[in-house]
Amino acid sequence: MTKLINIEDLTNPGDKFCKELENGNILFFSKPPFDFPQKELDFLLAQKQSGAGNRKNIAYKPQSNKITNFVKDSDAQEAELLEIMRNYSVRVTTFLSYLLSPYATKWKLDYASFRPFQEKGRKLRIRARNDLLHVDSFPSRPMHGGRILRFFTNINPTDKRHWMTTDGFADLAKQFGGNKVPFPKQKNPLVSQSMKAAKAMGIPFTLRSPYDLFMLNLHNFLKENEDFQKNCKKDYWEFPPNCCWAVFTDQVSHAATAGQYALEQTIIVPKNALIEPEKSPIGVLEKITGYSMVEPVFCGNSV
Ligand SMILES: [Fe+2]
Repeated sequence: MTKLINIEDLTNPGDKFCKELENGNILFFSKPPFDFPQKELDFLLAQKQSGAGNRKNIAYKPQSNKITNFVKDSDAQEAELLEIMRNYSVRVTTFLSYLLSPYATKWKLDYASFRPFQEKGRKLRIRARNDLLHVDSFPSRPMHGGRILRFFTNINPTDKRHWMTTDGFADLAKQFGGNKVPFPKQKNPLVSQSMKAAKAMGIPFTLRSPYDLFMLNLHNFLKENEDFQKNCKKDYWEFPPNCCWAVFTDQVSHAATAGQYALEQTIIVPKNALIEPEKSPIGVLEKITGYSMVEPVFCGNSV
């Protein structure tokens, strides 16, 4: 089961915090390990996102330096929101480059998000709900065995953010893989070759590896399985105001059951950056199935 690792001593991190994450634990910081000016917090908390909880979270895309899904009041408000989200993204990645240095030269920066909605009672379609236990999988951004590392900050000044977790990925794969959630096979070699050629020519397409198919199917299966949601053993976590936590959300099954106003930065860590790749979801799945579930050319390894 998942443990909370309370980090107070930041000196000489080496690879020890990477190992904690890869063992399915949550790194916890009682306050942000970087500057977070009060005026930025006040601005974020003052954002009125109409449309209640069925809207998407506000997303910041570092590669294009753009924000999406926000309610625009003025150009000045947009510019300030963009700057604050960019600041958060830069501060988190700078800090994690130090704390998780073995990953930092190989990882890929993904989106950051601002989650201004109350999670409790939020009206979302079942596969989009955050309050049901699941492991993360991105339907439109295949990982090819890469890991989903997420760093969260609860910026709510008074209320905790509440999470549940249950068994980690390895136990869930053992329990449901192959029977309830099939293990997809590698594609026909001719198809794979064509896709490699298309990628080499820069032709855009979304290729979902057998790994991505399994992860997406497991995500959907868990959320739609009432018996599992009701009866699985659970741990309950409370993240107080102004704290931060980091976790591999493709490995630690989680649900955000209550809380409002969180920030989050996602980072994709390729398999070849991991300290103990055999503990990763792709490592676990390939051990069970006995075959490769990704095309190496798409997952950061040389071929
Ligand atoms: Fe999630």
